[in-house]
Amino acid sequence: MEEETGSDDAITTHEQIFGDSSTTIFKDPGVLSPDYIPPQLIGRNDKIIELGKLLKPIEFQLIPNNGLVFGKTGSGKSVTIKFVMIKFMERLADRPEFIDHKVCWIYVQCKKRSTQTAVLYEIITQLDSFSKIPKRGISLDAYYEELCRVITDKNISLIVILDEIDQLKGDDILYLFVRSAEMQEIPQNHFICTIGISNDGDFGTKLDPRILSSMDFQEVIFHPYKFNQIMSILKHRVKLAFNEGVISEETIIKCAKDAAQEHGDARRAFSLLRSAATLASIRGEPKITVEYVIEAGKLLDQERLIRIAIGYPIHERIVLLSIVKLTKNNNKGTDSQKITSFYNTLCKELGRDPLHRTTIASKFGEFKMTGLITSAEMKKGRGGGWRDIKLNVNSIHNLEEALYDDDELKYLIDVNPSFFRNI
Ligand SMILES: Nc1ncnc2c1ncn2[C@@H]1O[C@H](COP(=O)(O)OP(=O)(O)O)[C@@H](O)[C@H]1O
Ligand SMILES: [Mg+2]
Repeated sequence: MEEETGSDDAITTHEQIFGDSSTTIFKDPGVLSPDYIPPQLIGRNDKIIELGKLLKPIEFQLIPNNGLVFGKTGSGKSVTIKFVMIKFMERLADRPEFIDHKVCWIYVQCKKRSTQTAVLYEIITQLDSFSKIPKRGISLDAYYEELCRVITDKNISLIVILDEIDQLKGDDILYLFVRSAEMQEIPQNHFICTIGISNDGDFGTKLDPRILSSMDFQEVIFHPYKFNQIMSILKHRVKLAFNEGVISEETIIKCAKDAAQEHGDARRAFSLLRSAATLASIRGEPKITVEYVIEAGKLLDQERLIRIAIGYPIHERIVLLSIVKLTKNNNKGTDSQKITSFYNTLCKELGRDPLHRTTIASKFGEFKMTGLITSAEMKKGRGGGWRDIKLNVNSIHNLEEALYDDDELKYLIDVNPSFFRNI
C-alpha cells in the first residue's frame, strides 16, 4: 500500500483531484438541458414569425392575441415560445415608444402547477416576491384579486405562458384573465394575455365553448421534425456541449435517426445524447460511441415504462403493485388469477372497493400494449381461466419504489403475498 510520506505528496489542485478537464467529454453540459435556450433555432422561422404576430398588436397600443400552440412532444414548442418572448422583450426595451408601461411574461409549467390556485400563486410570487399571499387555503377569487393588485401596483401588463395547459385542472382562470380588462380589474389599456401550449392536438375541442369564444385563441401548429432537421439541431448543440473530437458524425446520426422514428422528437434526441455522454463520461471514455447511444436508449425506454406506470389511475397502479409483489414473491412469475386475487386484498387494505374481475382482465391488455408486461395465451383449468403474466421492466425494484412514491400506495409497502394463505 502506498504510504503518504509528507506534505510534498499531498494533492491540492483541482486537476490532481478531478483530472485534466481538457480530456473530458463535456465543454458545457448546461446547453443540453431542456431549459436551455439556444442563440438560434433551426427550421422554425415560420413559427417564430407566427408567434411574433400574436404579440405585434402591443406595438400599436392594442391588446395582443391569445394563442394556443399545438404539436407533439419534442417539436420545439416550449423552446420556440421562450425564444420569441426573449426577443420581444429585447425589442420593447429597444423601443420604449411602443407602450407606456412595462410588459412582463411569466412561464408556468402546468404539469408542476396543475391547479388554478397553484398557477396564480406562481404568477403572483414571480411578479412580487414580497406578496404575503398564502400558498393554499384561500379561494381562487382571493388569488385573482391579489394578482390584479400586483398588476395595478406595479403598473404592468402580463403575458402568461401556460405550458402543458392540458394538465391544468379547470379553466376559470382563462376566463378571468380575458375578462380582466373589460371588468376594469386592471388599469386601462393593460392586459393579461394567455398563450397555452399543449401536446394534445384535440385540446382546443376540450375547452368550454364559452371560454373558446371569449379567448379567441389564434392557433399555431408545430409539425414534427424530419431527420435532417434533427441532425442540424444536434450538430449546432454538440459544438457547444462537447470538447472537440469527442463525438462522431455516426453517433449524431444514430441519435437523430432514433428521434426521427420517435415522431420527430427532438427531446428524445437530446435525452439520448445526454445519457450517452454521461455514460461515456463516468466510465472515463474519451469518446461517445454509437454503443453508448444504444445503451442510453435502453435505459430511457425503461424510465419511460416507469413513467407510464405511475401515470395510471389508482386502480391500475394497485394492479401493477400486485404484479410486482407477486413477481418478487415467486421468481417463476405469476398469473392473472393470482394478480386479481391479490389486487382485491390490496384494495381491502386501502379500504377501497375493488374493480370487477372482467375490468381488471381488460387492464392486462392495456399494460401489454404499453410494453409494461408480456402475457401468454389464456389457459383453462380448475377454478376458471388464467394467463401467465411477466413484467417487462429491468428493475422491478425501481418500478416498486416509483409506485410507493404516492400518499396512498406507500401504506402497502409491508403487505406481502406470503402473509395470505389463499394467494
Ligand atoms: N428548432 C430548434 N432549434 C434548436 N433546438 C431545438 C429546436 N427545437 C427543439 N429544440 C430542442 O429540443 C428539445 C425539445 O424541445 P421542446 O421545445 O422542449 O419541445 P416541446 O415543447 O415541443 O416538447 C429542447 O432541448 C430544445 O432546446
Ligand atoms: Mg414543451
